[in-house]
Amino acid sequence: MARLTILDIQAMKDKNEKISVMTAYDAVSARFAEAAGIPLLLVGDTLGMVIQGHNSTIPVTLDHMIYHTQIVSRVTTKSFIIGDMPFMTATTDAHDTLKNAARLMQEGGASCVKLEGGEFIAPTIAKIVQAGIPVMAHIGLTPQSVGQFGGFKVQGRDLGRAKQLLADAKAVQEAGAFAVVLELVPTPLATLITEQLHIPTIGIGAGVGCSGQVQVFHDVLGLFDAFIPRHTKRYAEIGKMIQEALAQYHADVGAGQFPTDANSFGMDETVINQLRDELR
Ligand code: KIV
Repeated sequence: MARLTILDIQAMKDKNEKISVMTAYDAVSARFAEAAGIPLLLVGDTLGMVIQGHNSTIPVTLDHMIYHTQIVSRVTTKSFIIGDMPFMTATTDAHDTLKNAARLMQEGGASCVKLEGGEFIAPTIAKIVQAGIPVMAHIGLTPQSVGQFGGFKVQGRDLGRAKQLLADAKAVQEAGAFAVVLELVPTPLATLITEQLHIPTIGIGAGVGCSGQVQVFHDVLGLFDAFIPRHTKRYAEIGKMIQEALAQYHADVGAGQFPTDANSFGMDETVINQLRDELR
């Protein structure tokens, strides 16, 4: 079966089928997410936090993103792979942005690129789309500008900012984006934006009115404990299971209870006896 395309994604929206998106950064997360039937995998720059151990996405480079996108595209066959453009690689400089987007597609094997920003970056989006690269936009709380927002705060609660978010959504759609992520947007506003657009909206902390949802792999599986965002639901506590399993391994090694014969390999006794004799 061929990979999903932007036409399939638009068809899901048109049929009112909710679209699930999960981040994936490596072979393990990508294989599990695809096997679970999740149609869109986002190689997000959140890998700066959940994989690299930084406290923001700012240190992530284009080379990091290409490396992780390569892995995710290598081990999957059906999923649509979204390659995230990291800090300062998607700007109002359309020439540079296009070169960076092309690397994520050509070297990383992404199916599309995702970039943060609304009205101000719409002309850049238009240039990338005209060059033949599908673009997923990302508005609301855009984590690469978290310093500008003064923290991970819900966006668009007042009339002025709500109008701006609606204008951003319309501008990226007009520029040719095939979908838009709405991050930390109040549910009624995200619902209204979804009603006003013909392209799908993918929410994270934006309520159930969006066309689809995106979540971070490590958040939903209990693998990231630095903080638990309110928009996340923990579907499993894998981190706790890993911790317990590793503690048990450590205890077994200490007590000489691992490995057992079942985990070990034998040899012809005459050979080992001969070697021992020679050493006497
Ligand atoms: O980088 C990422 O994982 C994202 C999601 C939080 C939408 O951009």
